[in-house]
Amino acid sequence: MTIEPIHFNWPYETGKELGYMAEAQRNHHLSGDGSFTKRCHRWIEEQTGCSKALLTHSCTSALDLSALLLDIEVGDEVILPSYTFVSTANAFVLRGAVPVFVDIREDTLNLDERLIEAAITPRTRAIVPVHYAGVSCEMDSMMTIAHRHGLKVIEDAAQGVMANYKGRALGAIGDLGSFSFHETKNIISGEGGCLLVNDPALTSRAEVIREKGTDRGRFHRGEVDKYTWQDLGSSLLPSDLTAAFLWAQLEEAQQITRGRLAIWRRYHGMLEILEQQGLVRRPIVPPDCQHNGHMYYLLLAPEIDRHEVLQELKRNGIGAVFHYVPLHSSPAGMRFGRPHGDLSLTTTLSQRLIRLPMWLGLSEAQQQRVVEVLEVILRR
Ligand SMILES: Cc1ncc(COP(=O)(O)O)c(C=O)c1O
Repeated sequence: MTIEPIHFNWPYETGKELGYMAEAQRNHHLSGDGSFTKRCHRWIEEQTGCSKALLTHSCTSALDLSALLLDIEVGDEVILPSYTFVSTANAFVLRGAVPVFVDIREDTLNLDERLIEAAITPRTRAIVPVHYAGVSCEMDSMMTIAHRHGLKVIEDAAQGVMANYKGRALGAIGDLGSFSFHETKNIISGEGGCLLVNDPALTSRAEVIREKGTDRGRFHRGEVDKYTWQDLGSSLLPSDLTAAFLWAQLEEAQQITRGRLAIWRRYHGMLEILEQQGLVRRPIVPPDCQHNGHMYYLLLAPEIDRHEVLQELKRNGIGAVFHYVPLHSSPAGMRFGRPHGDLSLTTTLSQRLIRLPMWLGLSEAQQQRVVEVLEVILRR
C-alpha cells in the first residue's frame, strides 16, 4: 500500500491570482508600481497602520533597503537574535556592520529583551527583533530601550503578517518593518516582501532607494518634471504581475489567517497529551500576542534524537523539518558577527525543534495521522 505523502508546505491559492495577473497584462503596465501595487500598498497601510508600505522582491530586499535607509556603516553594530534566518543579519553585514547576537527567550524563542541593554556599545545603531512563528517580541520593552539609547528598531516581521502585539500590527511598531510573501508564508506571491515605513521622515528616501536611487516616484506623481539620480539605490520593486498575484491573497487575508489558526489550534489540542507526558513542549503564546498560525513547532524532550524522529516521519511520508542553524555557529556568522554571552538557549532549543506540516487545506485526518505517527515514534 502506498501512503499519501503529507507535504510540509503547500502554497495556497485563492483562485483569483491568474485573473488579476491577466488584468495587469491588459492594463499594459507590467513593471513596478502599477495599479495592483498601489492597491496592495493601500491595503497594507490601512490594515497595519504603517505610514507607508512599499512592496519589494522579498523580505530580504526590504531588510537590505532598511540598512541603506538608516545609513548603517562599516563598524556599526546591530543587535539581533542568532536564532533567525540569514537575511536578518546579511542586510547589515552588506553595509559592513557587525551583527551582535543576543540569546532568545525560553518561551517564545524570540530575542530576549532583558539581555539587550548589556549588549549595547557606543557603536550600536539598531535592534532587529524577529517575530518568530508570528508571535510578537516584547515590543514595549524593546522600544523603551531603543529610545533610551537613541537606537532604531527594524522589525523582521517576515513571519508576522496579520499578527498583533497589544492590538498593534507586527511590522508597524518599530521605525521600520518588513514582511515576507515567500511561498512558505501565510500570504504569498511566490517571492515577495514589503517594507513598512513607520517614521514618515523616512518615506521619501525609502522611495528613492527602492527606485534605483532616483526620484521616479515623484516624477510619476507629477511633482518633478524629470527624474534623476538622487541617492544610493537599487531596483527593489516587484513587477505589477507579482503584485496582482499578491492582491488576490490580500483580499482573503482574514479568511486565510482564520483558517491557519484553526489548523494551529487543532494541533495544539491533539498534542497536549504528549506535552503532559514530558515528550514535547508545545509553542507558548503570551497573552499580549495575537499570532497568525504561521507555524506549528515542537521542542522535543532533550533526550530524544531529533534526527531519528525526522527520519522516521519522512519514512512515513510526513514532511517535517527543522531550522535554524544558529547564525553565531555558522561559517559566515563566525566571520562577520559577534556573540553576546553564551547563547546557551539558542544552542540548546534550536537543536530540539521540529516543524510539523502546516498549510491551509491540511485536513483534520492528515493532522491526526501526523500526530499518531509522532506518538508512536516518541513512545518507543
Ligand atoms: C525571520 C525571517 N527573516 C527573513 C526571511 C527572508 O524572507 P524572504 O524569503 O522573503 O526574503 C525569512 C524567510 O523565511 C524569515 O523567516
